[in-house]
Amino acid sequence: MLPEKEPAVTISAMTSIAEVRPIENRDVPEILELGNEIFDVSVFPYSVWSLGAIAKHLDQQPEACHVAEVGSRKVGFVLASMPFFDQKYWGHVEWIGLRRDFRGKALATKLADATIRALYHAGATRVVGDISTSNRESKLLARSMGFTELTTMTLFAAPSLDWIKSVAPEEEFATSDA
Ligand SMILES: CC(C)(COP(=O)(O)OP(=O)(O)OC[C@H]1O[C@@H](n2cnc3c(N)ncnc32)[C@H](O)[C@@H]1OP(=O)(O)O)[C@@H](O)C(=O)NCCC(=O)NCCS
Repeated sequence: MLPEKEPAVTISAMTSIAEVRPIENRDVPEILELGNEIFDVSVFPYSVWSLGAIAKHLDQQPEACHVAEVGSRKVGFVLASMPFFDQKYWGHVEWIGLRRDFRGKALATKLADATIRALYHAGATRVVGDISTSNRESKLLARSMGFTELTTMTLFAAPSLDWIKSVAPEEEFATSDA
């Protein structure tokens, strides 16, 4: 039988490759740039990556936002905060990312662990992460940390709105009144 996991011990032993510490305001420009390199910002949901996306979490829950550094070089980060929509005590881990050459070394696990602990100490009763169904590595990370699927949301797009041009507003009302 496999021994039970002891995350804190295992994680710190495996990740002496980088130091993890809370993000400070002076780190923001580099984190913004690092995110532009890590995420495919040409596609949704990563296209909403911005200064505002960082500020939202840093304003709300600075202690839950962490950066991973090797010397003074930033190699990854995690951004999270409460609330999650109307759930006052749900922590939301929204952004996590590492430079490619630092992946697969349990560093994301260490970042996520630091964030979850901080959210817990800030009063979180649950922690969630919204993950794109095509993001295999992110799903593997979540599952390896014990997260399970709560719900799946699919974004539907109408093919075209050109039909609106061909229907006069009076016709629309006439149809809906009938
Ligand atoms: C998602 C991401 C942060 C994961 O980082 P990571 O360094 O691979 O994570 P870890 O090394 O801590 O691995 C976590 C778990 O996922 C598994 N895993 C991660 N990537 C894997 C891969 N490519 N193949 C197989 N397993 C993988 C690990 O084996 C580990 O599981 P285990 O604990 O059972 O062994 C990283 O892939 C990344 O930066 N992706 C680009 C940014 C992104 O899409 N972020 C998420 C959306 S905000």
